Amino acid sequence: MRKAIQLLFLLVFGLFLLSLLISYFYLNSIQSLPKLSARVDSNGDDSIDESIILEKTENEILDVPFGPPLNFTSIGNGFLAFSAYVDARDGNMGYPCVRIPVIATMKQNFKCRLTDREMEGTTYELSENHAMRYRVYIVNCKLPDEKELKRIKTIEIGAFNTKTAKLEFTVVPITYRIPKETEIKDHPLRYSVCLPQLFGNIYTAERIVEFIELYRLQGAGRFHVYVKKESLDTRVSRLLNRYSKEGIVEVINFHPDIQEKSIWYHGQLISVTDCHLRTIGLAKFVSFNDFDEFFIPMTNDSLLSTLEELLSNNTGSIRVPTFYMSIENKTLPITQHNFKCSPQADERLTKCIIRPEMVFEQGIHHTSRVIQNNYVSPTVSKNQLAVFHFKSRGGSSINHRIKDLLGEKLGRNYQKEIEELEIER
Ligand SMILES: *[C@@H]1O[C@H](CO)[C@@H](O)[C@H](O)[C@H]1NC(C)=O
Ligand SMILES: *[C@@H]1O[C@H](CO)[C@@H](O)[C@H](O)[C@H]1NC(C)=O
Ligand SMILES: *[C@@H]1O[C@H](CO)[C@@H](O)[C@H](O)[C@H]1NC(C)=O
Ligand SMILES: *[C@@H]1O[C@H](CO)[C@@H](O)[C@H](O)[C@H]1NC(C)=O
Repeated sequence: MRKAIQLLFLLVFGLFLLSLLISYFYLNSIQSLPKLSARVDSNGDDSIDESIILEKTENEILDVPFGPPLNFTSIGNGFLAFSAYVDARDGNMGYPCVRIPVIATMKQNFKCRLTDREMEGTTYELSENHAMRYRVYIVNCKLPDEKELKRIKTIEIGAFNTKTAKLEFTVVPITYRIPKETEIKDHPLRYSVCLPQLFGNIYTAERIVEFIELYRLQGAGRFHVYVKKESLDTRVSRLLNRYSKEGIVEVINFHPDIQEKSIWYHGQLISVTDCHLRTIGLAKFVSFNDFDEFFIPMTNDSLLSTLEELLSNNTGSIRVPTFYMSIENKTLPITQHNFKCSPQADERLTKCIIRPEMVFEQGIHHTSRVIQNNYVSPTVSKNQLAVFHFKSRGGSSINHRIKDLLGEKLGRNYQKEIEELEIER
């Protein structure tokens, strides 16, 4: 009798434990659902199952916060400062400091002021200004104490006002804080794409969907798109809004108040610089390209594993050769209907993929300066990685690479996105 009671007790207790276990795992599985579906993965984890990246799940939202708005501060003489950043990297420039990118007409002497101290700012001209009236410079203000770097929230920049013949100071807020590059270990994203200029209706919503879906299939987690909002086509705006709600596209309003024709290509150098700063610590790899350019691995490796290999050790940036494809058939998606290709790859007008923390100055076709002298920026072999640029300039060769590699999945995702865009109308 006693044994029977003991047995019964054990049984009831066992069942109780079991139900506890079941509810624990059940609750846990609910909590971990969003994690599973998010496209984020920690950097350097080579065991990652790439099928997770390739499969598109319903309603997924990437919960990595967007960066700050791109603000310009007028600093007199019609010059602009686009925020300031604290840069803790000891690099070619010699020391950690506060850097302020400015748009000005000629090499100026600028001063920096913090509380009661004033110092000379050293001016560095970016290399791709193309001798236009307005050019982009970086003013570097060296602060005496590294601890101070961590604390400051604003800095004042002084420019000589030719009208009043006085040195006038303007407060510029600090937008980015760049740690030493060796301290950055984990990036929330493995790969993000900077799209420095989108205005007017040069690209239809369909072309943008094709671009984004093709890159997502290859593991891109985010797209930073610099737009002149009021110039955009309504369908394009609607599309960007939708992608933005999913956390996929970060739309950055970009409209410096200077005459467009007096700065190189609508001020592209500034959006490139901002995007470079914005992605430090966020993405392990970052490319700078346009909506008609596609990075495609030429071996059997995925784009991400190709990048892991090419951008390892002290490689801070790679230059990728370009093949030109002509657009003869307007049927969408265009990458699936156009195969005429230039026989030779262009190794001069290359496009770059960088490890942003290792770069000091990024240009359009090459990295102008890395942050340490031992970091390198090689041009890679067209047999390993290439850019396919659809610009009606292709030629006598035929190349089906994109279709073979991604055609089927792209077709499905493209269709789905376009349908959703139509429903929303
Ligand atoms: C940029 O401007 C917006 C709107 O004027 C403001 O809310 C924000 O604080 C500014 N950001 C910086 C970093 O100055
Ligand atoms: C890629 O894989 C295919 C099929 O496995 C093989 O035939 C081809 O030689 C491989 N190509 C390269 C460049 O390794
Ligand atoms: C990077 O360093 C590792 C270890 O030192 C070496 O095995 C590898 O070949 C290097 N990779 C490149 C691309 O130089
Ligand atoms: C464009 O491609 C589509 C689909 O492959 C094909 O049906 C059509 O004939 C092509 N048009 C031209 C002008 O080549």
